[in-house]
Amino acid sequence: MGLVERLDFRPNSKQEARPKQRQDKKGHRKWAEIDRYIVDRLVPSDPVLDAALRTSQAAGLPPINVSSNQGKLLMVLAQAVGARAILEIGTLGGFSTIWLARALTPGGRVITLEANPMHAKIARANVAHAGLADRVDMRLGKALDSLPTLAGEGPFDFIYIDADQENAANYFQWAVKLSRRGSLIVTDNVIRHGSIIDAENCKPAVQGLRRLYDLVAAEPKVSMTALQTVGSKGHDGFAIAVVTADQ
Ligand code: SAH
Ligand code: DHB
Ligand code: MG
Repeated sequence: MGLVERLDFRPNSKQEARPKQRQDKKGHRKWAEIDRYIVDRLVPSDPVLDAALRTSQAAGLPPINVSSNQGKLLMVLAQAVGARAILEIGTLGGFSTIWLARALTPGGRVITLEANPMHAKIARANVAHAGLADRVDMRLGKALDSLPTLAGEGPFDFIYIDADQENAANYFQWAVKLSRRGSLIVTDNVIRHGSIIDAENCKPAVQGLRRLYDLVAAEPKVSMTALQTVGSKGHDGFAIAVVTADQ
């Protein structure tokens, strides 16, 4: 019997949870090794990005940045739309910010929103060390407070949502408002180890993500799908949306 069927049968049983953990651990090691294979070939080692992670770790920031191949995915997607104006929600130590800023067409700019002053301080230093301070504009404060102030600075060609999942649907609504037809909106962490389908899980983060799915299901202005990912960060996923209507 497959894992999902067993979990569906008794989602709360401790006996049933154990095999899942074992399988996840084993899978996780392999996924991390495969990420390494990909990165060794396709994501050249980079002293600036390595330093950004080192200083983030030294400062005690949580290690929840995108992985290197995911960072490159963000860069590739932003390059694909020729992004000149990028908005990021959730900066942490600036690792994904650096990937995004490197995708900018000449004269372009990343605006990145971060609520935690400590994170913002480390990110600012990392972005400066990457030589990108002139292209990255960090706004300190809760994203829901900053977003209404951005109307005059858009529309954004590419928006990356990676802050508190509790507000994922709220951020997505703002992202659509700040977009144009053809803008891409990417949201991180939309699977959360499968908790999205765990009926017993009513944590605010998971409920926030479900609200995002429901919102988009009823939103005619965007075309979106979600993809599960495995890798060094375990089992999670990205949602990718293109805006199909003028705002
Ligand atoms: N994009 C980063 C990871 C972001 S982690 C990377 O891949 O490198 C999530 C970040 O969102 C954290 O730094 C956290 O402080 C920030 N955050 C959480 N709630 C927020 C809010 N309400 N407004 C703005 N930022 C928030
Ligand atoms: C968490 C947050 C993230 O943005 C992420 O990519 C992974 C984990 C977290 O809050 O645990
Ligand atoms: Mg994330």
